[in-house]
Amino acid sequence: MRTALSARRTVLVRNTRGQAVRAPILLLSLCFACTAKLFAADSSSEAETLLAKMTLDEKIGQMVQVDSNALKDKADVKKFFLGSVLSGGGSDPPDNYPATWKKFADEFQSQALQTRLKIPLLYGIDAVHGHNNILGAVIFPHHIGMGATQDAALVERAERVTAEEVMGTGIRWAFAPCIAVARDARWGRSYESYGSSPDLVAELGAAAVRGLQGESLDKNSVLACAKHFAGDGGTLHGKDQGDTVCDEPTLRKMFVAPYDAAITAGVGSIMVSFNSWNGHKMHGNKHLLTEVLKGELRFQGFLVSDWAAIDQLGPDYKSDVEQSINAGLDMVMIPNGPGEKNNYAQFIAHLKVLVAEGKVSPARVDDAVRRILRVKFRMGLFQNPWTDAALTAKIGSPEHREVARECVRESLVLLKNSGRLLPLKKDVKRIAVVGRAADDLGMQCGGWTIDWQGKLGNVTPGGTTLLAALKKSVSPETEVTYSADGKDLKSAEVVIVVVGEKPYAETQGDRSNLDLSTDDARLIARARASAKRVVTVLYSGRPLVLGTALEQSDAFIAAWLPGTEGLGVADVLFGDCAPRGKLPRPWPASNGDLCVDHSSSKPQFAAGFGLTYGYRVSQK
Ligand code: BGC
Ligand code: BGC
Repeated sequence: MRTALSARRTVLVRNTRGQAVRAPILLLSLCFACTAKLFAADSSSEAETLLAKMTLDEKIGQMVQVDSNALKDKADVKKFFLGSVLSGGGSDPPDNYPATWKKFADEFQSQALQTRLKIPLLYGIDAVHGHNNILGAVIFPHHIGMGATQDAALVERAERVTAEEVMGTGIRWAFAPCIAVARDARWGRSYESYGSSPDLVAELGAAAVRGLQGESLDKNSVLACAKHFAGDGGTLHGKDQGDTVCDEPTLRKMFVAPYDAAITAGVGSIMVSFNSWNGHKMHGNKHLLTEVLKGELRFQGFLVSDWAAIDQLGPDYKSDVEQSINAGLDMVMIPNGPGEKNNYAQFIAHLKVLVAEGKVSPARVDDAVRRILRVKFRMGLFQNPWTDAALTAKIGSPEHREVARECVRESLVLLKNSGRLLPLKKDVKRIAVVGRAADDLGMQCGGWTIDWQGKLGNVTPGGTTLLAALKKSVSPETEVTYSADGKDLKSAEVVIVVVGEKPYAETQGDRSNLDLSTDDARLIARARASAKRVVTVLYSGRPLVLGTALEQSDAFIAAWLPGTEGLGVADVLFGDCAPRGKLPRPWPASNGDLCVDHSSSKPQFAAGFGLTYGYRVSQK
């Protein structure tokens, strides 16, 4: 694999004992060239001219991003000169279909265009594995599966498809890619990470940025947002929003390095992380946000906060605003509206007072607004505040689904294949499929699908479960039987067991025990007891502790959270394509082994492991 981090440079930093040590700063020269390309003189001077005309109220408005659910009155966009609106995981229009989304986003935009200076709005959404909030959009494998493909060109193509689907709903900003380096599988966001190696994350993260934005930020771009800066995947015990404890050289090498690669790829926005570093919240860390990101790494885009994350700084909201803006935040994500605490009107009032009191300098406000305006100019938002309705029709199209199916095929990791059971023949007499996950699109997709937490069942139209895919793939004479609990297996030649984690997102996914569930273990044991050959397919956002399930299966596939295109799994099971995925992190053998930094014993499988069929079949 090509590594994006070969051209290392170093800078002097202090470690926890206060000693000066060298730490890598990567690709600085390339970085200069790239940011110059990203923010050419034209957009800077246009931004400068506009900035000079703006009142303080207009400037502060640009720095505010409000969740659509909190905006009870859309006219508040105009009233407060808001720079951005987002839809969080649960903030959909009442009818959650593409055309409604476009209308919804356009209504907010028309409010912004009625302001004195007509500065267009930037609408943001969590399109983190495809345009995942929208019914009928194609859902890609979560990042951990894309990490298993180890294929930067494929990641880039997948994100281009996502960008088209996002633009089809009137939206120009995706809160992606997540370039967390997940070190501890207990972390509920492990599946949002490409893997446990900073080199892999850097390479695929940069590819994702290119896919969303293109070679440079322009009128065809969806603005990417590398997140969450920094150390989100390194917290103690894998606790979401927890504390990452390490010295600065380690932080840079492990968690900052992927941001350097993203900046080199031209990323226009970066989201700051909920987590702390050595006990201090990232949202108040001026050294890392301003000195390192904007200074050393020459990041020219803007920094956005995470969801109400500044509220955790304390002791009160005014001080949250002061600390975060002075630390270097340019835009603040606010999920609260009228009648709620820490709402957008309060943020605006506080920031205004802080400027009047001299606690936040006018220069700091100008820097923030300049950065936001530069991105908006560069993206051609002033000329084209509306997106192309022709793209709406392409959402969930067969061509888009084909790319996702390819991603699924490439993401599967074959962990075991005794007696070369796989690939299966398409003309065996009878295949018994068991396990709820085989026929549950929601489990196949995981969290961040339609709902923030994801959900069980038929979550979105247009997808194919593995059961449906198997039925489509076999010869006409072959019978595919299905039972969730695996009751009757007698007449089958082979049993395919599909098991795994139920959907979750963020903190709700934190677990200290990653054993396969007892029901799933029992199902595999039952399949084994039938004396048939057993293939197990596991859907999970991270490696689970397999126990006897591995011995009891003749073949075992880690399929991660593949998304809507179950046909990609069938392609590999039947050998239309050989498995090529490689583990993007070590696979632990026990619950004592879930953190790669503190594992005491040998993993069950090392990072990079993945079997294949020993032949390469032509692609479909
Ligand atoms: C998550 C972010 C996400 C944001 C907006 C936060 O809770 O940490 O990843 O982009 O919400 O939905
Ligand atoms: C929102 C998510 C957000 C989360 C943060 C949820 O209600 O839908 O987008 O990330 O809250 O806590």
